[in-house]
Amino acid sequence: MSSIKSVLQETRQFPPSPEFAKDAHISSEEQYQQLWNRAKDNPAGFWGELAQTELEWFKPFETAMEGQMPDTKWFLGGKINASVQCLDRHLKTWRKNKAAIIWEGEPGDTRTLTYQQLHREVCKFANVLKKLGVQTGDRVTLYMPMVPELAIAMLACSRIGATHSIIFGGFSADAIADRNNDAQAKVVVTADGGWRRGKEVPLKTNVDASLPKAPSVEKVVVVRRTGTPVDMVPDRDYWWHELMEQVDADCEPAELDSEHPLFILYTSGSTGKPKGVLHTTAGYMLGAQMTSRWVFDLKDQDTYWCTADIGWITGHSYIVYGPLSNGATSLMFEGAPNWPDEGRFWEIIEKYQVNIFYTAPTAIRAFIKWGDQWPQKYDLSSLRLLGTVGEPINPEAWMWYHRVIGGERCPIVDTWWQTETGGIMISPLPGVQSTKPGSCTRPLPGVVPAIVDDKGNPLEANQGGLLVMTQPWPHMLRTLYGDHQRFKDTYFGKLEGLYFAGDGARKDEDGCYWVMGRVDDVLNVSGHRLSTMEIESALVSHPLVAEAAVVGFPHELKGEGICCFVTPKGVTPSDQEKKELIAHVRKQIGALATPDQIRFTPSLPKTRSGKIMRRLLRDIAAGKESSGDTTTLEDYTVLAKLREED
Ligand code: WT7
Repeated sequence: MSSIKSVLQETRQFPPSPEFAKDAHISSEEQYQQLWNRAKDNPAGFWGELAQTELEWFKPFETAMEGQMPDTKWFLGGKINASVQCLDRHLKTWRKNKAAIIWEGEPGDTRTLTYQQLHREVCKFANVLKKLGVQTGDRVTLYMPMVPELAIAMLACSRIGATHSIIFGGFSADAIADRNNDAQAKVVVTADGGWRRGKEVPLKTNVDASLPKAPSVEKVVVVRRTGTPVDMVPDRDYWWHELMEQVDADCEPAELDSEHPLFILYTSGSTGKPKGVLHTTAGYMLGAQMTSRWVFDLKDQDTYWCTADIGWITGHSYIVYGPLSNGATSLMFEGAPNWPDEGRFWEIIEKYQVNIFYTAPTAIRAFIKWGDQWPQKYDLSSLRLLGTVGEPINPEAWMWYHRVIGGERCPIVDTWWQTETGGIMISPLPGVQSTKPGSCTRPLPGVVPAIVDDKGNPLEANQGGLLVMTQPWPHMLRTLYGDHQRFKDTYFGKLEGLYFAGDGARKDEDGCYWVMGRVDDVLNVSGHRLSTMEIESALVSHPLVAEAAVVGFPHELKGEGICCFVTPKGVTPSDQEKKELIAHVRKQIGALATPDQIRFTPSLPKTRSGKIMRRLLRDIAAGKESSGDTTTLEDYTVLAKLREED
């Protein structure tokens, strides 16, 4: 509540400096207005022109945009390849020998790949995939640490038209199996292990454990990263470095339809089953490229660093596809911000003279807690632009970021978007927009949002409502893999003709958006999306559990914590059994879903119609008195008992 109040009272504004504005890609209010209005009035003309001038085509498209939401198609008739946008086009220019990826591993080892070197590796691995029987249209799962081979594998898939499905390294064997089955993946690329705070993440072992439950997988490629011994099954498992010795470095890019599936990325929805968000080639690439340039104001001399893991959409769009399609230098870091100490990020910024830095509010809150002495030890004067993504940022954290990291000179871009939107939707343009701590400000050109009530009626300024998109954009998801009906129901079923984002927000009198958070049963834990139902199904799959309800509660560092109300089958479980339940959820989903609290209760509060009273549970989890009307409570004693536990 205190953070909501502080956002409502927030009135500070920070205009861009004239020096920043002068050189920015979009550099004046007039220019922004002109682009935004043009795109609103004629999306096909606006995006069509950009697609023509900004993408490399084998064959030009005939129709820029066809059909309305939810089934809009873009750039039909065109032939294109995403790896060409990121690589081949730069080889014809002076950027051939420019650093594409500067990589640092957690132990401090480093590698730099120029565009030409990256192209070579990508072509080779594309040939490896072909040799393993991967064909255009097949799905390839990447379950890898943050090493250059991950970016290489992504681009190699796109080169031959295989659809990649990246699974974040924090997910469990069961989660890998679910995703492999849903995608019917043929090949999995992994590593022996990855480094995380000096410990090894047993990636290959997790893949091994997943395979008996995922029969579609025929081959596994293993990158040697940590050197830890792993089981290699003959004719199934192959070392990356051995396969790479057997192929040549020429691989013609596949000429693919604009709407060819580029990747699937699983994300949590309001039911237990993860959703396979599908993005297609031309529209996604145009979005990643243009939004990177507009929002991060990428310049050739910049060293750009996005701290996300490539296992999330942020890494797809803003470590790999966006920066590389712009010919930028993208820094990639394997490790954590507090290993070997809390100065690691600032040390990297000083060491590589990072100019643009993009991170998450949950990380910023941790930095604040660790203390100003860490960033103060390092020279951060190379920074010229800062960004955040993943959850609403509280104005206090914004101000700290502005003052301590940005030295009061760097604009902050608070970027609102989603796995489904493919790219940034609402964000300050750093050369135009006066920023406001806690607001993602205004929509980018081509993005036409609105705040509506639950019937779809537009609301007045400053009224809280549902955040929707009223027009299609090229980089929006096309479907949920294998379940087009769920796609339509989830995003378009609630409000006729509008894309419903799942967030609550308000728009102020200047047209700036203030996102408040999810309005569905999705949690945002440290910027990671988790479905309450997914955690509930994990809990009830344990023999001790009869019923479970999971809600979020405000958490100082994570933004939202996970609170589980559990009705046990027998007597109240012991502390040991409680620990076992926590371990069970981790095993079913992954460490990112670790419950913060488990509270046992003889029954769950329900309405007469049998619906769990989540609002009440949320209030209890937050330690608040229930403000809601509880007269429909089936069992008052439940409430009383739950309160006793507080
Ligand atoms: C949800 C999407 C997009 C990459 C990271 C997360 C929340 C994201 C912001 C922001 C307020 C934000 C929303 C959104 N969110 N960015 N700048 N301000 N909220 O992607 O896992 O698809 O989650 O993250 O609730 O719906 P994701």
